[in-house]
Amino acid sequence: MCGIVGFIGAEEAGPILLDGLSRLEYRGYDSAGLAIYGAGQGLQVVKAKGRLKVLSDLTQGGAAIHGSVGLGHTRWATHGEPSDVNSHPQVSGDGRFAVVHNGIIENYVEIKEFLERKGVRFVSQTDTEVVAQLLEYYYTGDLLGAVSKVLHRIDGAYAFGIICADCPDKLVAVRKDSPLILGHGEGFNLLASDVTAVIKYTREVSYLDDGEVAVLTTDGVQVYDAYLQPTEKELCHVDWEISAAEKGGYEHFMAKEIMEQPEAFRKTVFPRLKDGRVVLDDLHFDQAYLRGMDKLYVIACGSSYHVGMAAKYNLEKLLRKPVEVTLASEFRYCDPIVTENTLTLVISQSGETIDTLAAMREARRLGARVLSVVNVVGSTIARESDDVIYTWAGPEIAVATTKAYSTQLAVTYLVGLYFADLLGTISPEEYEAVVSELLLLPTKLEAVLEQRERIQYMASLYFNHPSIFFIGRNLDYAVGLEGSLKLKEISYIHSEAYAAGELKHGTISLIEPGTLVVALASYTPLFEKLMSNVVEVKSRGADVLGLTVESRGDDMAKTVDHTIRVPDTHPMLLPSLDVLPLQLFAYYVALQRGCDIDKPRNLAKSVTVE
Ligand code: AGP
Repeated sequence: MCGIVGFIGAEEAGPILLDGLSRLEYRGYDSAGLAIYGAGQGLQVVKAKGRLKVLSDLTQGGAAIHGSVGLGHTRWATHGEPSDVNSHPQVSGDGRFAVVHNGIIENYVEIKEFLERKGVRFVSQTDTEVVAQLLEYYYTGDLLGAVSKVLHRIDGAYAFGIICADCPDKLVAVRKDSPLILGHGEGFNLLASDVTAVIKYTREVSYLDDGEVAVLTTDGVQVYDAYLQPTEKELCHVDWEISAAEKGGYEHFMAKEIMEQPEAFRKTVFPRLKDGRVVLDDLHFDQAYLRGMDKLYVIACGSSYHVGMAAKYNLEKLLRKPVEVTLASEFRYCDPIVTENTLTLVISQSGETIDTLAAMREARRLGARVLSVVNVVGSTIARESDDVIYTWAGPEIAVATTKAYSTQLAVTYLVGLYFADLLGTISPEEYEAVVSELLLLPTKLEAVLEQRERIQYMASLYFNHPSIFFIGRNLDYAVGLEGSLKLKEISYIHSEAYAAGELKHGTISLIEPGTLVVALASYTPLFEKLMSNVVEVKSRGADVLGLTVESRGDDMAKTVDHTIRVPDTHPMLLPSLDVLPLQLFAYYVALQRGCDIDKPRNLAKSVTVE
């Protein structure tokens, strides 16, 4: 996913833009570039394939390009391979316009052909270049007018930063489906793909909505709606510490974020527990609605989907309502059964995942109500939901999610209790038991994290295995899905998570001497069942790494090769404890394998293109 930064003010723009881009590196990219307007220099564009360091070296840290207004970009290639010429900013043929873009122009081919027939010569293979060339084509001296014409001509998802050599006293920001924020300063203003690029300079930000256009000058920001009518934007104060966007002494963001989970859990849960009651003021549900609810449809991708898989077991037990969990990319095309009595629970860390966003819009079109669980304040999914509950995990930088996953889980516990209480489907005793355990959970999470050296040792035994299996039943199966994804995405080891009872229907044929099987048996009502599956794989020569609660640790240790124990807790809350050893195992395996843990190959932090 691309990163965008724009600056207009009194200081030299180069170093500020490079600093902002460096804080967006986590998004994943393969090239970077700058466009800066300097008096007497005109529009200067420098861009290069490779890491940001290449660009910084080319521009002496940005100091070699003079000017106090400019744009910066880190590109995650979608159209045209990573190369200097395909890097952004993309420039119009007359050199008057420079454009940086995050997203996809879906009708760029027809526009390109149209402009080529008009004699325009394209130099790149990107979809973005058609925007720069179209701006030149429509420009007659009115920048905003030209931008408006371009926006009526293109289809797709986009966040643009635009600079024009004819009017270097302004920057233009445009947003549709790809996030873009504005940083409001004293004597300067910024635009960026997300907050981490601007909080060093200002904590006052606003979020562009789809179709909006902003014009930034040194003295202020004017936002226009899709009809180019001035519109006011609410200013938000960002209270994240910059340190939260930096590694804080850990070798990787992922390690830092794994260790932050107890605190992230506290920040997300405790403000919502008052006098032993779950208090969700941001929600607008009543008993009548919930009683009339015909289905709860969980829609998400990746790890957020795995949260939904765990939530299904808990919510169906609590609410006695059908809960269906669907991959967002599948939901969109399966002709889903949705009515106005369907509640869709949309889970997304970034709040910008295009599959999840599109599925949510489809659910709404079909009449469903939308409750979303999101980590990024002001993100598109959050703003388009009927109700949103924010996870307060803080910025999650590592591509492989950990603390966001954990806080999403925590929110599903709260929603489950809240809804069950409204429905009258939970006894006061059970309600109190779960709330009591929620209050104890951060301490138990910390206890699990104290085992990290032991887990690192286990990783050292297995980091060279070509394939690793995770098996579990019920909630353990749901957590196994997440453990397997963590391992795959950062260590590149093939892995599969299986419902343990399903092994005998095929996959057990893959088990051979030395195969590593991670057996999750914390859900104690099915402990014996799971242990029989352990015996099955052991008899075929597998090594078994067992994970269970303290009270069953000795039983498990009799059969498996290594046992990890987590503190006993209410069964509903087990996934929060069980996932930690699996995150640590994946991390240490990837560390042993020398992988790029925070920026795994082929992956981006938020998938905002299909
Ligand atoms: C998780 O480790 C992955 N990076 C990925 O599966 C992620 O969970 C998925 O892309 C969904 O992202 P979202 O929660 O921001 O919507």
